[in-house]
Amino acid sequence: MAPTPYVAPVVSSESIFKADLFKGKVLFCTGGGSGICRAMTESMMRHGANAVILGRKLDRLTQTAAELSKSTGRRCIPAQADVRQPATLKDAVAKTIQEFGRIDYVICGAAGNFLATIDGMSENAFSTVIGIDTLGTFHTIKATLPYVRETKGAYIHVSAMLHYKGTPFQVHVSAAKAAVDAISAVLAVEEGPRGVRSNVIAPGPIGETEGWDRLSNKSSSSSEHFPLGRVGHVKDIENATIYLFSDAAANVTGQILPVDGAFTQVAGLSFPYPRAVLDTESVKHMIKPRL
Ligand code: COA
Repeated sequence: MAPTPYVAPVVSSESIFKADLFKGKVLFCTGGGSGICRAMTESMMRHGANAVILGRKLDRLTQTAAELSKSTGRRCIPAQADVRQPATLKDAVAKTIQEFGRIDYVICGAAGNFLATIDGMSENAFSTVIGIDTLGTFHTIKATLPYVRETKGAYIHVSAMLHYKGTPFQVHVSAAKAAVDAISAVLAVEEGPRGVRSNVIAPGPIGETEGWDRLSNKSSSSSEHFPLGRVGHVKDIENATIYLFSDAAANVTGQILPVDGAFTQVAGLSFPYPRAVLDTESVKHMIKPRL
């Protein structure tokens, strides 16, 4: 009988990091009103940081900020901004400095996505996603960098894994995230000598998120396609965030940290995976005997 495949644990709600790791620090997070970026913000706040979350919809931001302040005991304030409009980001930075006096960490997380072929996508649809993801990242860095230099802080850019190969229906996001990866690398090299770090988190499929609900083909993302036995969990991204912003990553910059359980490393195989590697008997008809 074939052994049962391993399933990676999800770290429980009790953090393995010190609760006051980011005490006195301030996080500035675009896209923090919902989804993965909201979870990243909450985890930073649970470890002592205050936060400013940015987005286009003030009512949602206000509600999220109140919920995060209540659940963590730290202060979260909303700042309405569209990352495509630099002036709105400058206003949000001014609000942050007025409220908290500093910016230590920045998450460039605002993103747009939908599924469409190249053929079926308008020019405006393509440039809208480039505008949010790529230009939005550039504008966010421009607005925050003077303050992040002062604190010798750090950036995390939320990217993806899908642009390493040709992912159908994702030309806009693939182009946008490839550029985000490049921006982060340049930022790390230019600003390293001033003590600023910049890294990318590249999530694979993360279950129970808006992106998962709208964009994933759940049948092809069943756990058997994941070497560690499960889809990603927001906790995985939260823990990667805490690590990269903490001093544990003091010498880590200019890097891309994939958090996908090696999902995107699995080659397109013509034999059943993972059964074939757990039970070679099942594919012995495919393995040629040595001459
Ligand atoms: N398929 C094809 N084109 C689409 C589309 C879809 N599902 N959704 C939007 N577009 C096109 C629009 O038709 C428009 O192009 P057009 O002027 O040629 O018609 C262009 O993209 C801009 O759309 P619009 O809705 O006006 O822009 P917006 O700035 O208000 O919002 C998004 C852009 C991407 C944020 C919006 O589509 C959206 O809200 N998506 C869901 C939220 C999201 O992406 N979250 C990230 C989760 S991973």
